[in-house]
Amino acid sequence: MSRFARDMIVIQEVGPRDGFQIEPAWVETSSKISLIDACSEAGFSRIEVSSFVSPTAVPMLRDAAEVFAKIRRKPGVTYVALVPNLEGARRAIAANANELNLVVSASETHNLANMRMTRDQSLRTFNQIAESVLAPQITLNGTVATAFGCPFEGKQPVETVMDIVSRYLRLGVQGITLADTTGMANPRQVAELVRLTLSQIPSNALTLHFHNTRGMGLANVLAAYQAGARRFDASFGGLGGCPFAPGATGNICTEDLVHMCHEMSLPTGIDLGAVMGIARRLPALLGHDVPGQVIKAGRSHDLHPMPKPAPKETSARKET
Ligand code: COA
Ligand code: ZN
Repeated sequence: MSRFARDMIVIQEVGPRDGFQIEPAWVETSSKISLIDACSEAGFSRIEVSSFVSPTAVPMLRDAAEVFAKIRRKPGVTYVALVPNLEGARRAIAANANELNLVVSASETHNLANMRMTRDQSLRTFNQIAESVLAPQITLNGTVATAFGCPFEGKQPVETVMDIVSRYLRLGVQGITLADTTGMANPRQVAELVRLTLSQIPSNALTLHFHNTRGMGLANVLAAYQAGARRFDASFGGLGGCPFAPGATGNICTEDLVHMCHEMSLPTGIDLGAVMGIARRLPALLGHDVPGQVIKAGRSHDLHPMPKPAPKETSARKET
């Protein structure tokens, strides 16, 4: 395997789902579709398009079916739908999602708040999805939310996380995501959990989902990378957050992550200029600033004109 292939970083754009689910004001369906189409053109191989969840729980994504119906599908791109239960799976399959992203929390308290089910109920439901409604061409991804800590319970035992990973693998998922729902992970913890998980699954089956709630997001990416991880979720503009986790804030920012990777000569296959263009559309669309930094500062190699030399001091000023 060439060095290039080994070091390719896969970034899944989750802004249309994690980003928009927590926005306070409605985002028009046509705007969602236009942003997702722009992501397809920007070179993402994976886009989490929306959630098929209760419209009472997450009203911002109640147009998931229409969004899936109207996006322009680019060959080779996997369009993912988040799914909490059987009804969600049926709706996602009817909408022609390529992959269902199942979610259960490591923390029982967060799963009850988020999914109104115990973890066992969620996992039994996922078994039913795998056994009864899944079509052969659709892949499954299993997310462990609050894997690095829960806003109600604190740190979660590694054994709990790995037990959920094993249960996902037994039901036949193709991918696992370890999600840091409220930005509690630190780089050392990330390295340990990534190493442990990569003893069970290959690196092309593991995704890390970080939120930048406490400014540790990109440090966690680097720690995960050094421990062997190659796939990351990120959100345009750094939008995002779980509506059922107090204090939740945005995902790591896509354009900041792409910029960091490219500065480190790690290829992503993503056009940074195009992603920055997408992020620049967000403040006007959402009515507020976004956390991403590269669209404010510019890329590291976007140099500024040299300052004009300061005027020479006059003798009068020297005297004062
Ligand atoms: N899609 C659309 N509607 C759904 C649905 C789904 N996947 N699942 C349930 N519903 C509807 C039911 O049809 C029912 O509608 P009705 O009142 O008109 O009959 C209503 O929601 C309540 O159904 P119930 O099964 O009792 O669900 P609940 O109220 O216990 O909620 C979930 C359970 C999982 C549906 C809800 O908690 C949820 O959608 N959570 C997702 C949260 C989320 O997206 N978090 C962020 C991402 S991790
Ligand atoms: Zn998230």
